[in-house]
Amino acid sequence: MPFYHKLGKIPPKRHTQFRKPDGSLYSEQLFGTVGFDGMYSNIYHEYRPTQVKEIVKQYKVAPKIARANNMESLRLKGFNVKPEKDYLSSRKTVLTNSDCSIILAAPQESQKDYFYKNTDADELIFIHKGSGKLRTFLGNLDFKYGDYLLVPRGIIYKIDFDTEDNRLFIVESRRPIYTPKRYRNWFGQLLEHSPFCERDIRKPQELEHHDEKGEFLVKVKKQDDIFEMVYATHPFDVVGYDGYNFPYAFSIHDFEPITGRIHQPPPVHQTFETDAMVVCSFVPRLYDYHPDSIPAPYNHSNIDSDEVLYYVDGDFMSRNDIEAGQITLHPAGIVHGPHPGAAERSIGKTETEELAVMVDTFKPLQVTEDGLKLSDGTYYQSWLEKE
Ligand SMILES: [Fe+2]
Repeated sequence: MPFYHKLGKIPPKRHTQFRKPDGSLYSEQLFGTVGFDGMYSNIYHEYRPTQVKEIVKQYKVAPKIARANNMESLRLKGFNVKPEKDYLSSRKTVLTNSDCSIILAAPQESQKDYFYKNTDADELIFIHKGSGKLRTFLGNLDFKYGDYLLVPRGIIYKIDFDTEDNRLFIVESRRPIYTPKRYRNWFGQLLEHSPFCERDIRKPQELEHHDEKGEFLVKVKKQDDIFEMVYATHPFDVVGYDGYNFPYAFSIHDFEPITGRIHQPPPVHQTFETDAMVVCSFVPRLYDYHPDSIPAPYNHSNIDSDEVLYYVDGDFMSRNDIEAGQITLHPAGIVHGPHPGAAERSIGKTETEELAVMVDTFKPLQVTEDGLKLSDGTYYQSWLEKE
């Protein structure tokens, strides 16, 4: 995050002696990003964080591609993804390109016997159903329905769920995820016209501290392989850190919509960005208030973006037949728009309760085998007018 955070105990000056009560040194780690040119934190461990005991296994988790070049608008029935006990195996990549992956998951159990670290990508985990605690070596975050959890790459974490009924929409991004640049001043502070501000962003407040030696399994993802690595010390042995690189939470319900007299373009919903995609939040809001306005969107083609919409809750104004948990993919290169009748039907309406997350990718998305299984096969014809 582009602001400073400090948690736990740290010495007054970086890179100086910082001693435990018994006189020995804590182990300092500089956790940098983007070749030490991006955000970083300085972290103090009980033990050296380098103590790999064994690399037990390596296996591939890359998704199988069913359609490398796709021009068909798709509707994926996301709630058809079957719940699975294990968090990592429950994650099903449905769409992917070299910059990012769109993942659906219905995990039933908390991570019990392993920690997880994704070194390929930042993870943006949207909580559609469920609540619990994201536990990380840089502090914990409670989460519930509507939260985005931003886990920068390299953060070691575990997820604890309160119940078995969980539904997650996850974006893995190989480019760092930031808040939109146009909403920040040159110091990084979110500006007055931003739809959210620093007060809406929840930082880790509870630092778990385990002074433990033994055998600790960390599943590390690198280049679409999982390496099962056993460490000699507990990964949550941090006594304190400071810096700009840490996980955080932001609730979609804290996104303040920007509205106008006539239809506002998609960028007003923007919440996050990378140099390869944007993430937008569609939230309950008042409709356009020009006397002749048409609240439903116009037909549109952003010629070079694939558009993924994940429907969360409410009534989706532009469609007749969308349910919560579904994904629509509108591929770059062709026009899409409201369903027949939706524009007329929207006239005179004053507000919407729709809640949705949109991901626009600048490179086309490939459809995976897991994704194609969820497709209804007929969505691309749904704009045809009935004779
Ligand atoms: Fe669209």
